[in-house]
Amino acid sequence: MMLKPKLGVNIDHVATVRNARGEDYPSPLRAALLAQKSGADSITIHLREDRRHIKDNDLIKINEKLKIPLNLEMAPTIEMLKISLKHKPDYICIVPEKRTEITTEGGLNLKKNKKLLKKILKKFKDKKIRSSLFIEPKISDIKIAKDINADCIEIHTGKICNLLNKNKNIKKEFIKIKTAVSYANMIGLEVHAGHGINFSSAKVLSKIKGIKEFNIGHFLIGESIFIGLKKTIKTFRKIIK
Ligand code: PXP
Repeated sequence: MMLKPKLGVNIDHVATVRNARGEDYPSPLRAALLAQKSGADSITIHLREDRRHIKDNDLIKINEKLKIPLNLEMAPTIEMLKISLKHKPDYICIVPEKRTEITTEGGLNLKKNKKLLKKILKKFKDKKIRSSLFIEPKISDIKIAKDINADCIEIHTGKICNLLNKNKNIKKEFIKIKTAVSYANMIGLEVHAGHGINFSSAKVLSKIKGIKEFNIGHFLIGESIFIGLKKTIKTFRKIIK
C-alpha cells in the first residue's frame, strides 16, 4: 500500500514579515509549533547566506523546541556545513543559492559540484542526518544524486507551477516530473517535491505517485493571511468597542 505523501511546512516567510519591522513578531518558532499542532509532518527553514528571513537564532530555537523533524535547507558552503553539523537538524536539503535571486530559482548543478556534494553528504551520513538534493527533474542528475549517496532528491516544481499559474500547457513538464519520480524511486531514492506549489498545483502534482513529501511555503503562509484575516479583525472590533 502506498503511504500518503507527507507535508513539510516552510515557515521562512513568517520571518520575512517579522524582519520587515526588525522586531520579534511574528515569531517563526510560534509558527513552527502551530504548524506542528495543525498536522505538518515536518518544518522547513532555509538559512540563507544573507539571512534575509530565517536567522541563526531561529534555527537554534526551533531545533530545540520542535518535536516533528526539522528540515534545514542550506547552500553547499563551508559556513553552512559548520552550522548544520553543529546543530544537527533531522533533515537537510542542499539547495543552490545566488545572492541576487528572489527565491531558489533552479535545481543544483550536480555535474559541476559532484565532488564537493559527495563530501558534504558523507558528513551528514556520519551524523545520521537525512540528506536531500534540490534538483531539476533530470535523469542525469538523479543518477548523480544516487552515485554520491544522497538519501532523497527534491524535485524543483517551479516550472510546472508557473505554467499552471499562466494557464499554459503542462503536459511536457508533467511527464518529465513523472518520469523522474519513477526513475528515482526505481533506483532507491526517496522523492520530494517543492517550490511554487499552491492548491491547484498540489492537486496536479499529487497525481504523481511516488512523491513522498511536499515542501510548501510561500503560498501556504500567504494564504494563511486570508484565512485568518476575518477572525483577527473581529477580535480587534471586540477589543476597541
Ligand atoms: N523546497 C525547496 C528546496 C525550497 O528551496 C523552497 C523555497 O524556495 C521550497 C521547497 C518552498 O517553495 P515555496 O516557498 O515556493 O512554496
